[in-house]
Amino acid sequence: MRTSASSGCWPSQPIMRHRPALRKLRRPRIALPHAGRRPVSRPASSGYILAMASRNDIDFTYTLTDRLFRLSVGELADFSGAKYDGDFSLTLEEAQRRKHEFVAAQLGVPSGGRILDLGCGWGAMLAFFGTRGISGVGVTLSRGQQAADRRHGLDVQLMDARTVTAATFGTFDGVISLGAFEHFCSIEEWQAGRQDAIYAAFFRNVASLLPPGGRFFLQTMVFGPNMIPYEAIDMHAPHLSDGHVLALLQKTFPGSWLPYGSEQIERNAEPHFRLVAKESGRLDYIETIRQWRTRFGQRSWHKLLLYARLVPRYLTSHDFRQAFVSGISANTIAFERQLFEHYRLVFEKRREPA
Ligand SMILES: C[S@@+](CC[C@H](N)C(=O)[O-])C[C@H]1O[C@@H](n2cnc3c(N)ncnc32)[C@H](O)[C@@H]1O
Repeated sequence: MRTSASSGCWPSQPIMRHRPALRKLRRPRIALPHAGRRPVSRPASSGYILAMASRNDIDFTYTLTDRLFRLSVGELADFSGAKYDGDFSLTLEEAQRRKHEFVAAQLGVPSGGRILDLGCGWGAMLAFFGTRGISGVGVTLSRGQQAADRRHGLDVQLMDARTVTAATFGTFDGVISLGAFEHFCSIEEWQAGRQDAIYAAFFRNVASLLPPGGRFFLQTMVFGPNMIPYEAIDMHAPHLSDGHVLALLQKTFPGSWLPYGSEQIERNAEPHFRLVAKESGRLDYIETIRQWRTRFGQRSWHKLLLYARLVPRYLTSHDFRQAFVSGISANTIAFERQLFEHYRLVFEKRREPA
């Protein structure tokens, strides 16, 4: 399911923070359908999309956060876990920079090379590679992100990262994807037993983009060892129970379901890729979210004007209230309880099929 932390994460609930009067408004309650593992029909009014994490889902989360995130964290900001390596004296920017350098080192693409960023967000990695003389193409499903990227002169296309093949933009010297894989499989697709097939097709496509020995850097959240059964995810579960926390995250990131551990990812990559490095970024992600929340909490007139413009949406959209104004950092809790894990995975394309 969609998560808030990683990549996608809504690190804080800024409207509540800045407009305490809104706390007094009554929040209607809603239950998630108890669907077992069969596909479910959800009424259109529920705000759920029946396909995978669709453009509407992504827009709901990322285009909505577009201006606020950039006002709080900066233009070209990363919206995925930073790399502190346990050194929490680093600033957010220092830790994100450390991540950029790590990704570039793992990819090993020289100046003059070309990389692809699948789910590029606000273009932080593309901009970083640009400073190294490496050109890049990015794809996103968020119209707001694409517009912001283009204002910064980045080559970003609005399309489904899962469908990019060599026929789309040609081949690349390296491919990266940070915080987007979380969105590649919907709850319905998982319920229909299609999760492995989706990941397998994705890795086949990525392999087609790379030369033998070419590398793919993947950073993603996965379900952790303490993940609970789907049936226990419920907005009516006891406050701050695992079921309640995960239901809140589903509201923030509708339309997605995470991989079951890095093992599921590695298994589907196996025919095309050799895993050359793997590390957990779970604790680093908790710190990233903490620093994001601090930034979101910093007041500015621009932000206040933005919040004021969101008030009609707050008043009229139940999904918006559920997703963004709960006052709980559900993603932090999910990481702390190991309902979620987070990995940086480096794959190298096989010279011969496995
Ligand atoms: C959490 S953001 C991460 C952005 C960026 N990689 C970073 O690290 O800052 C997730 C990104 O994945 C993109 N995304 C999710 N599903 C996608 C899909 N199927 N196709 C293209 N982009 C997708 C979103 O539009 C968003 O840009």
